[in-house]
Amino acid sequence: MARLVVVSNRVPVPSAKGGTAAAGGLAVALEAALKSRGGLWFGWSGKTSGDREIEWLEIRDHGNVTYAVADLNRRDVDEYYTGFANRALWPLCHYRLDLTDFSRKDMAGYFRVNRSFARLLAPLLRPDDLIWVHDYHLIPLAAELRHMGVKNRIGFFHHIPWPPADVLSTLPVHDTIMRGLAAYDLVGFQTDYDVENFAGCMIREGFGKSLGHGWFESYGHKFQVGNFAIGIDTQTFVAMAEEGMKNSIVKRTCDSLRNCDLVIGVDRLDYSKGIGQRIEAFSRFCEMSPSAKGQVTFLQITPKSRSEVPEYAQMQRDIAELTGRVNGSLGDVDWTPIRYVNKTLGRGALAGLYRIAKAGLVTPLRDGMNLVAKEYVAAQDPTDPGVLVLSRFAGAAREMDGALIVNPYDVEATANAIGRAISMPVEARRERYNSMMPKLLEHDVAAWCRDFLDVLSANEEFEPEAG
Ligand code: UDP
Ligand code: G6P
Repeated sequence: MARLVVVSNRVPVPSAKGGTAAAGGLAVALEAALKSRGGLWFGWSGKTSGDREIEWLEIRDHGNVTYAVADLNRRDVDEYYTGFANRALWPLCHYRLDLTDFSRKDMAGYFRVNRSFARLLAPLLRPDDLIWVHDYHLIPLAAELRHMGVKNRIGFFHHIPWPPADVLSTLPVHDTIMRGLAAYDLVGFQTDYDVENFAGCMIREGFGKSLGHGWFESYGHKFQVGNFAIGIDTQTFVAMAEEGMKNSIVKRTCDSLRNCDLVIGVDRLDYSKGIGQRIEAFSRFCEMSPSAKGQVTFLQITPKSRSEVPEYAQMQRDIAELTGRVNGSLGDVDWTPIRYVNKTLGRGALAGLYRIAKAGLVTPLRDGMNLVAKEYVAAQDPTDPGVLVLSRFAGAAREMDGALIVNPYDVEATANAIGRAISMPVEARRERYNSMMPKLLEHDVAAWCRDFLDVLSANEEFEPEAG
């Protein structure tokens, strides 16, 4: 079996003691795939080191997995990560043209860092390695590797939404981005909708043609495109949620709630997550339902994210102010309607909190998949499950038909859905849970990994009749 090489902007390098740095589902699944084949995980160390050019790698072996990470200098971080990745590509892919800030300097930095990464990675590659690149930070990597003569099979997975042609084409260098994707052998998206958008960009903008059955030809290269919805490590989440009450954070939360019902939201503090609209909807729900007063509490866990990006810094101020306003006007001496927490919680605490929450509010304005939606359902007690309120604009909505699907821009409708979730009879809740759980178990993160790698290693070349 070919060795697997995973490339991502952030690399969960295990600590010196051997623990996993980021025990997220993705990290766990990729690590398992790397271990079973032997493998290499390459990317940014997450550290910024002075003005030095990227020229060396820190390489660490853990069992049969090698981690190779590079520091970036301040200018690289500003231009590649903060600038082009998070102020141009991220808002663009989340349909936020009002928030894109395109700068040629940042774009040059983005391509420069990708070239430097390719230069560092190429000497570590073996001829039969299977290379799997992740996310929008690294779109040009395959093209850079190809320039250096790398002939390996290279796949790319785009974790976030892919926008329609009209949105993409507002990016001045969208042709270079499309050319970058066309250099891969397989490009994976979260939903059929993203695949359709990508095909639209390819064909309508004249970058290539469809050969049918997910194959495209562009810039003289034939490559495959597919829909591979990412999953979570469902079994592990179920087990963690069952043990949830042993977690001290969960215990403290339960004690402090007394008899209040809990509603939960868990998101990075990101404008794509619809946190402001959700707070407005919860506030509207409290106004519409006098019985909610003192009886329902909304816990919003929101770790700060990308604070160096001005749009995120602004949003942090806006959400804090909105929360204060709602609590001030609706709250009472013995009741705080919204508990707003800017902390990162561990997965054990989250699993337990999901389980004690009667409703999970996952209402992004746009999201590639949204793993929290899947985690919330997996964590429920099958005999007395809570209800997921889910945005139609999350990739997860394409699969999770047992959720109450809402339009997050419609505050009134979301407020009604919160009321419906909290008062839903147990039979209806069980039915909804039972319609989602088998899919979560079957299409878990290990299956996602396997499915992508099977196609990447199988599609040696285009065969029209086999398709
Ligand atoms: N998460 C976490 N601790 C927190 C908040 C979030 O571990 O305090 C995890 C959450 O459990 C989920 C991931 O972060 O696995 C967020 O993934 P999602 O797809 O929902 O959104 P993203 O942040 O990737 O946009
Ligand atoms: C999303 C992206 C990931 C990114 C994560 C956290 O999930 O798809 O690539 O790592 O957000 O964002 P950050 O900018 O902190 O890496």
